[in-house]
Amino acid sequence: MSEINIGLGNNDTKTRREAETDFVAFWAKQAKNLSWFSNWEKTLDWHPPFARWFMGGTINASYNTLDVHQQNKANKPSILWEGENGESQILTYKDMWIQVQKFANSLKSLGVKKGDRVTIYLPMIPELPISMLACARIGATHTVIFSGFSAASIKDRINDSKSRIVITSDGGYRRGNIIHLKEIIDESIKDLDFVQNVIVVERTKNKIHLSSKDILWNELMHNVSDTCPAEPLDSNHPLYILYTSGTTGKPKGVLHGTGGYLTHLHSTFKWAFDIKDSDVFFCTADIGWVTGHSYVVYGPLLHGATLVMYEGAPDFPDESRMWQIIQKYKVTIFYTTPTALRMLMKFGDDIPNSFDLLSLRLLGSVGEPINPEVWKWYFKIIGKEKCPIIDTWWQTETGGLMISALPGLETIPLKPGSGTRPIPGVIIAIVDEVGNDVPPNTKGYLVIRNPWPGMLLTLWGDDQKYRDVYWSKYPNSYYAGDYALQDADGYFWLLGRTDDVLKVSGHRIGTAELESCIVSHHNVAESAVCGIPDVIKGEAIIAFVVLKQSVTSNNMDKELLQKIRDDIGAIATPKQIYFVTKLPKTRSGKIMRRLLKAIANGETIGDVTTLEDGAAVTEIQSAFKELQKSIQKKSDLT
Ligand code: WTA
Repeated sequence: MSEINIGLGNNDTKTRREAETDFVAFWAKQAKNLSWFSNWEKTLDWHPPFARWFMGGTINASYNTLDVHQQNKANKPSILWEGENGESQILTYKDMWIQVQKFANSLKSLGVKKGDRVTIYLPMIPELPISMLACARIGATHTVIFSGFSAASIKDRINDSKSRIVITSDGGYRRGNIIHLKEIIDESIKDLDFVQNVIVVERTKNKIHLSSKDILWNELMHNVSDTCPAEPLDSNHPLYILYTSGTTGKPKGVLHGTGGYLTHLHSTFKWAFDIKDSDVFFCTADIGWVTGHSYVVYGPLLHGATLVMYEGAPDFPDESRMWQIIQKYKVTIFYTTPTALRMLMKFGDDIPNSFDLLSLRLLGSVGEPINPEVWKWYFKIIGKEKCPIIDTWWQTETGGLMISALPGLETIPLKPGSGTRPIPGVIIAIVDEVGNDVPPNTKGYLVIRNPWPGMLLTLWGDDQKYRDVYWSKYPNSYYAGDYALQDADGYFWLLGRTDDVLKVSGHRIGTAELESCIVSHHNVAESAVCGIPDVIKGEAIIAFVVLKQSVTSNNMDKELLQKIRDDIGAIATPKQIYFVTKLPKTRSGKIMRRLLKAIANGETIGDVTTLEDGAAVTEIQSAFKELQKSIQKKSDLT
């Protein structure tokens, strides 16, 4: 199966033509699909590398996701919420509107003002999107932290954003267990005196300690007015900060604006998902990651769509949970990750085959490359060979999807494993080391040649780092940090990261962050972390550790595991730790990471002679042998 010709009958060639003629005018036309309080004076202010879209226009994200639907869709379900333990709740557009206004007034009563940051550390419960939209309503910048992160990681993030208000819950359900979120927050803010209040949603009803800073959500919302007009905000007003891993030890605060970001989402949600009023949209991403921000919350709600929001694990209480949900809510569009699909595929075809999945009409994939084998299973067993699959490439920094088939716009033959082409209005190229376009079918670096509306404004508090990370390798091109190639038909194939960022279960983890965590253990002298292919998670983490002299590796694996969980969170758990006496380095002191990977993959010396570490072959060969000899212990942790 090389090509699959399946589309939904849309054939709009005008949109692409308009985008090619003048991308700025093109995006201005798309922005008109939103409700603006006042029009912009300038569509794009481009002082590379800073793009400011729709300058002078005023808009509000909460207004565009809720108020605009009150005339025609007040009683339409916005969120079909499914609890892990089988509870469910339906929130209409009117319910959401009222709850958001009440919570916006509650935030105001605590002194939250336009421009303030609010940290949200909640499980997948309706209070999470309600909190985000309430912040957006009054111009506070939300910063959501994935509920799998540890106290130390949260502390860094709250400290960086200087949030005075934190929203959390007593606990969250995960595979039937309760994760004690409030306790984690208590630990994280212990030394952060500027945190004024913690708002606590009671979800699991486990016993919690309440301090003078803590306020229960229900008490705060009691007797609060349900009218809070949406604040007209500058188009480039910061809507949110989302922290993501990069190549340094410290996570980066990706800052997104309002008008441009919403324009990007409104357009891509329509083009890629072909959204119709009757659709039931189910994106399995956690809202703690960008996919959840853009395609659980903002994208669907901008369109007045009905979405399914699921609280728990995809395989709890059993392996059929996803298919049960699709059957129960008659889901029409399903958007998930290759990691989830690989896991579900492993459980066998009988499980999905015993559910009615015929409501599905469109399938999506996000976050990591999808192997053609999994693509074909998704197409055949889940989509019954009638649903197009959109493989969407994008990043936290791009705000919305950038490469994808667009069934809502045009029909294009699909090739399993390729995202197809860029969306209209963005120019993507594959270049060599010095920035020249590479010929078809040649691996190179993926760059974006023009500013686009969902583009990050900057990195929170660090314009210089923003310049350095994304705009310094090539003049006037955004450097994505991905390898890719374009085939002779112009299709893009993503080939993995160029840097030391790993994708474990689709989550971004910086090796530098992990290494700095490991070396901060008093017994560790040096450490290097790399990724190796994993059949379910895509990539798995392998750590090489050099202990200080006189320390033995007896219990160090358990101690390091605990330290990683405390400092970062369980998502960063290595699969294996190798204790070695020295790390292989080039003469200039660079760690030969590919050599580490080769050892972890069980490869032989023959496989590693063409490494790109800047070392001579003989040097690599002797380093390889030395490294093998120096392994003192290998611990399997997962
Ligand atoms: C990878 C997730 C292949 C890529 C939305 C990118 C993908 C990083 C795909 C961003 C895809 C995302 N095919 N690789 N369809 N989508 N990636 O910020 O390496 O969590 O740079 O955003 O994920 O990860 P992030």
